[in-house]
Amino acid sequence: MNEKIQKQYNIADEVAELLLLRHGNTPKAFVHTYGCQGNVADSERIKGMLTKMGYTMTEDKEEADLILYNTCAIREHAEDRVFGNVGAIKRLKQTNPNLIIALCGCMMQQEHIREKIYNSYPFVDIVFGTHNQYTVPEIFKSYLLKGKRFFADMTETNEIVEGMPALRDNSAKAWLPIMYGCDNFCSYCVVPYVRGRERSRASADIIAEFKEIVAEGYKDITLLGQNVNSYGKGLDEDINFSKLLRSLNELDGEFTIRFMTSHPKDCTKELIDTIAECEKLSKHIHLPVQSGNNRILKEMNRHYTREKYLELISYAKEKIEGLSLTSDIIVGFPGETYEEFCDTLSLVKEVGYTSLFTFIFSSRKGTKASLMEDPVSYDEKNKWFKELCDLQEDIASEHSAKMLGKAYRVLCEGKSKTLDGYFAGRTDGNVIIEFPCDNEDLIGKFCHVKVTEPLNWLVRGELIK
Ligand code: 5AD
Ligand code: SF4
Repeated sequence: MNEKIQKQYNIADEVAELLLLRHGNTPKAFVHTYGCQGNVADSERIKGMLTKMGYTMTEDKEEADLILYNTCAIREHAEDRVFGNVGAIKRLKQTNPNLIIALCGCMMQQEHIREKIYNSYPFVDIVFGTHNQYTVPEIFKSYLLKGKRFFADMTETNEIVEGMPALRDNSAKAWLPIMYGCDNFCSYCVVPYVRGRERSRASADIIAEFKEIVAEGYKDITLLGQNVNSYGKGLDEDINFSKLLRSLNELDGEFTIRFMTSHPKDCTKELIDTIAECEKLSKHIHLPVQSGNNRILKEMNRHYTREKYLELISYAKEKIEGLSLTSDIIVGFPGETYEEFCDTLSLVKEVGYTSLFTFIFSSRKGTKASLMEDPVSYDEKNKWFKELCDLQEDIASEHSAKMLGKAYRVLCEGKSKTLDGYFAGRTDGNVIIEFPCDNEDLIGKFCHVKVTEPLNWLVRGELIK
């Protein structure tokens, strides 16, 4: 085992004893994750460490001895939600004075946020960031021994410490980080500042973890990175993302491989051919375009043009049968005019995405875009935003209508959240499909469902025996 992790395991044993003294019995941890799947994957590893420290997990804040929020800094709205929810748990310390409140993740990497937490949220006990997660036992030990608030060292490190245990939830889907950080510095984005430089995990480590996940029974595995297409840069091995995908595709077992996020500037025809040729790779590409206008793309520092993007899309459509495309779009980038926004609408129409993640521009401290003039009002941007959502709803309905009467292989994920007596799963193209079912043994398994009722963002159907 990695020496650094071994050291943390040893400290975890000491922490377990200290926690037992503090709480009198097995302590319970409530961990909540904001933001992207990268954060979800981090939380799984942090929960793995917390388990080593003697915690059991709870879904109920009221009975927790530790409340840990893993935070997101991508938009102001995400940060506001964290501040609101942190404020709301202060009262829990009155009923449980031994309660520990801890914050970690992207927001905490920003100095102005740490200052605000330090000065205005004195009931927050522990703060750590994205670079020192594997030292959770050491951080808790310092807090418990010193008995005063502990704000961890936030120094950036490019090191990847392998071997953190992951406590995955017990569903059919698993997340597997293949790289960390981002070097792209899109002008609106805070990620390169809070997650540091791009670095890839060695392929042997990824393959070993992938095999473990398959052996545990996971059937849908998503490889994660801010820009998976540049996987392998800086490693001492002859590898790139396509080669990694081909090695994983060859492994034994019944599973689907997904990945996100692809950056169009590094998305190659080699990658598209790989998706077309590897039977275990999902025929779904999430390829965030952000804008359909060349001036805006340049201002965003995206390094591709509308034409280059559309060329990739038409190559992919030609090569990959049953291809499903999704994207991220930012509405109202500083200085964007309505005419420029219309180029985004026309691109969305031309591509015909299965679904879209749409965001109104949010100014992030420290980014280039935060210094740009932004004359269009929020209300106006909101109108544009609604226009885009309406357009996408029509496109999605058309896609769903085409699914009527067809049968799909679906990974059953669990009970439907909206309909009693229904289960929900996803098609290979990542479309949610609900079907009447009462057989819990089906959860986590593949089944076949025929679509009977297409709706706009999901479809309903019936199991084919
Ligand atoms: N404002 C709005 N949306 C943003 N995103 C990233 N930064 C911002 C921002 N400052 C969006 C992009 C990215 C997705 C994860 O979040 O579309 O692809
Ligand atoms: Fe942000 Fe661009 Fe990096 Fe994605 S690629 S995390 S949008 S800087």
